[in-house]
Amino acid sequence: MTCYLNGEFKPIEEACVSVLDRGFIFGDGVYEVIPVYSRHPFRLDEHLKRLQHSLDGARLANPYAAGQWHDLIHRLIDANPWSDQSVYLQLTRGVAKRDHAFPPGIPPTVFMMTNELVPPGEALKRTGVAAVTAVDNRWARCDLKATSLLPNVLLRQLAVDAGAVETVLLREGFLTEGAASNIFLVRAGAIVAPPKGHLMLPGITYDVVLELARENEIPCEIREISEFEVRTAEELWLTSSTREVLPITRLDGQPVGAGRPGPMFARMNAHYQAYKNLVMRAPKAS
Ligand code: PDD
Repeated sequence: MTCYLNGEFKPIEEACVSVLDRGFIFGDGVYEVIPVYSRHPFRLDEHLKRLQHSLDGARLANPYAAGQWHDLIHRLIDANPWSDQSVYLQLTRGVAKRDHAFPPGIPPTVFMMTNELVPPGEALKRTGVAAVTAVDNRWARCDLKATSLLPNVLLRQLAVDAGAVETVLLREGFLTEGAASNIFLVRAGAIVAPPKGHLMLPGITYDVVLELARENEIPCEIREISEFEVRTAEELWLTSSTREVLPITRLDGQPVGAGRPGPMFARMNAHYQAYKNLVMRAPKAS
């Protein structure tokens, strides 16, 4: 696998970062995960916009203009063997003697790698997945895609320990998101999603789902969602760049709705796949 590190493309085995890198020492960095279908990055401008938001929140300067990011990302995609990929991009505050304060005048570390992207298969979409709930005990800037992911890692492991795939997070009795995804509900024939804010990541897939709902005249509500509403939802979905839209059919061991993926999921998944196909056929942006 060819990766990118600080201006150079090289085999991943040859890419080295100092142990003093602030990403390693403090988790002092931000990242993005960009899905790629048939070598077309999906919603690249939106991912780069969110990267800028994370960089601003972390008070890190963006070393590249949008056009340079486009060029580097396309070169990374072309240098690797898979047609569908998930590009991982990370910037840290760079290498310096350990001190919490920002070190003056050092360049950031810029790293990108890519892996084969295998979206969830039809079998999984027919059964849905299991999730558990947990109290969202993360910080109050969950809108930043920060590399310091220990809380998310611990929360996600709760799901794995229970034989489930995701942890649905509740803060003061209200839904925020998943440990590594956004969460949607279906109630009374409408899609319901929590509003963006400091307590959840503004998901790129979240935006796509809401856009597709509006374009196809599916009713949707953006509002606070109580734990009771989560537990009594007709349908529950998780969304992310790597898992697209996936139905959650068991929550804390109880069936969600009828315990099978619902009709609204089938509708949204069809719209999502059709949209993906459009993106794949589009001429490649430079
Ligand atoms: N995670 N919320 C959290 C906490 C996430 O980590 C993610 C995605 C999302 C969904 O965002 P998007 O639709 O833009 O992928 C929401 C990525 C995939 C990850 O960390 O691997």
